[in-house]
Amino acid sequence: MKKHFLITAGPTHEPLDPVRYLTNRSSGKMGYALAGAAAHEGHRVTLISGPCELDVPTGVDFIPVETAAEMYEAVKRYIGKSDIAIFAAAVADYRPAHVPDQKIKKTGDTLTIEFIKNPDILGSAREVFGYQGTLIGFAAETENVEKNARVKLQKKGCDFVVANDVSRKDIGFDSSENEVALIFAEHTEPLPKADKYQLSLDIIERALAI
Ligand code: C5P
Repeated sequence: MKKHFLITAGPTHEPLDPVRYLTNRSSGKMGYALAGAAAHEGHRVTLISGPCELDVPTGVDFIPVETAAEMYEAVKRYIGKSDIAIFAAAVADYRPAHVPDQKIKKTGDTLTIEFIKNPDILGSAREVFGYQGTLIGFAAETENVEKNARVKLQKKGCDFVVANDVSRKDIGFDSSENEVALIFAEHTEPLPKADKYQLSLDIIERALAI
């Protein structure tokens, strides 16, 4: 059966002033691979993406955003139409409390910027948006990977979480390969190291089985 996927991808950019921004390390490759694979299999795909250098996969509805706040609004608007939502974006957890109209000048020896918390988009899916479809989160961890991912699974009401160890140099981030484990409430399924397109096919297959 063909489904409607909503996928978030890439980093967000949080402006510090008119010429600078704060971001996360994310190429967007995982989210774009998921969107491309789902579209290739004939599913409808809405891809909500922060700024990336990648080509938009053919056949997806593309919603570009910059900030976490914009991504939140886009997800809020489109999630209700989807059957399966996969949150692969690396969203900035905080944004500057005040963004000046003018460029910050090099006046002091130190610079202090106050940050405020961004909304947790994945965490809002069930509780704020009332989403009842299949929900999949990602967990990029540097330690206690499985334990932290399991906490996320429960806290955010996910059906499963895709966990990866970003302390490893050979996988994750910019790499086109990744090695992940799927964390379900009752069990963990490690997937063998593979390119992000192959992993996407596996993740989509597990999502369709829920
Ligand atoms: O708790 P943490 O931010 O590490 O969770 C990561 C998961 O949550 C990812 O799936 C990411 O896309 C999502 N996320 C989000 N909104 C945020 C932060 C993370 O949707 N503000």
